[in-house]
Amino acid sequence: MLEPGVDFLNHGSFGAVPRVVFEAQTEWRRRIEAAPVEVIARRRLELIDAAKEQVGRWLGMKPDDFGLVTNATEGVNAVLHSLRFSPGDELLTTNHVYNAVRQAMKFTCARSGAAYREVAVPMPVRSPADLADAVVGAVSDRTRLLVIDHVTSPTATVFPVERIVRACTARGVDVLIDGAHAPGMVPLDVESIGAAYYSGNLHKWAFAPRGAAFLWARPDRQAAIHPAVVSHHYGEGFASEFSWQGTRELSAWFAVPTALEFTRQLGGDAVREHNHAMAVWAHRVLAERLDGAEAIVPPDGSMLGSMAAVKLPQTYAALSEAQLLSLQQVLYTRHRIEVPLMRLDPNTVLLRVSCQVYNTPRQYERVADVVRGLLD
Ligand SMILES: Cc1ncc(COP(=O)(O)O)c(C=O)c1O
Repeated sequence: MLEPGVDFLNHGSFGAVPRVVFEAQTEWRRRIEAAPVEVIARRRLELIDAAKEQVGRWLGMKPDDFGLVTNATEGVNAVLHSLRFSPGDELLTTNHVYNAVRQAMKFTCARSGAAYREVAVPMPVRSPADLADAVVGAVSDRTRLLVIDHVTSPTATVFPVERIVRACTARGVDVLIDGAHAPGMVPLDVESIGAAYYSGNLHKWAFAPRGAAFLWARPDRQAAIHPAVVSHHYGEGFASEFSWQGTRELSAWFAVPTALEFTRQLGGDAVREHNHAMAVWAHRVLAERLDGAEAIVPPDGSMLGSMAAVKLPQTYAALSEAQLLSLQQVLYTRHRIEVPLMRLDPNTVLLRVSCQVYNTPRQYERVADVVRGLLD
């Protein structure tokens, strides 16, 4: 449904809903409006369970171990609001953390007196082992919770989550994984990662309508975790509490099976593999065509999913936030390219491209040429 004539290279921000999924959600909205009480009150559980059954089978989660939420941010907030921290505790994450999650962690720390700390990921990232060592090496005796991304937003880096979780578990430190980008982008078996908590989106790379996400918790941690909105089913068990979080728009959840079926019909795992191959290629094209741009992860693609980012020359780092935003507007309005320029720190601005089945190689060559022209 994307507007024609635009090179849309930002599937990563909010996804893009296929027409069949849009229509399935529209149909659910019609059914809800035709019989609000029948659908919301009496059929809700059955419909949520049907969606969960498919999501769980696909991503390696038992239905009792996860609940549907509206977005990954909400899943992260549910965990952070549920846990109790005290002065002397520390919440640790990396400098690649998504800003909304950073803010939620800071809020939790401000309320509890715990300390907030970010470890800087060494750039460029040389290998999964190097990244894991840097993160695990930053864990201290005070660390109560480590929050890591499965796939980072600004740098499009796939973190070695299993390795990090193993090392942290051995030290008695719980890990919350922000998997906002992971479902549909990387092979995923949530339970086998072994983290304490995993929050993931279905509305980015799983083609679900916006508002479809989940929070998984390891069985030994579930008793303490509640939805961000506590409601009727408080005290009735982890998954049950998530089945009612106040009256809300349910059509996105009900359309999830159609979204998963869309991917299956398109080729299942082949979709992910195709997108990954294109991302590895696009990563190389951007690094080669943009003078002064630097790759930030290994060129073999071992730390990429279906997005890739390159560090732009210092000219970009010197721009103000307003200038960066206006450049993005110029890219869209004048050049008909939708692509994000992301600031990681004062010295680092990144160009991130997403690769989805509707994209073509020519679009990445074009974005490289246009951005090179902007630099001139
Ligand atoms: C790494 C990461 N975490 C969390 C989010 C938040 O996702 P949502 O807005 O769906 O909660 C995003 C969104 O881009 C993200 O990239």
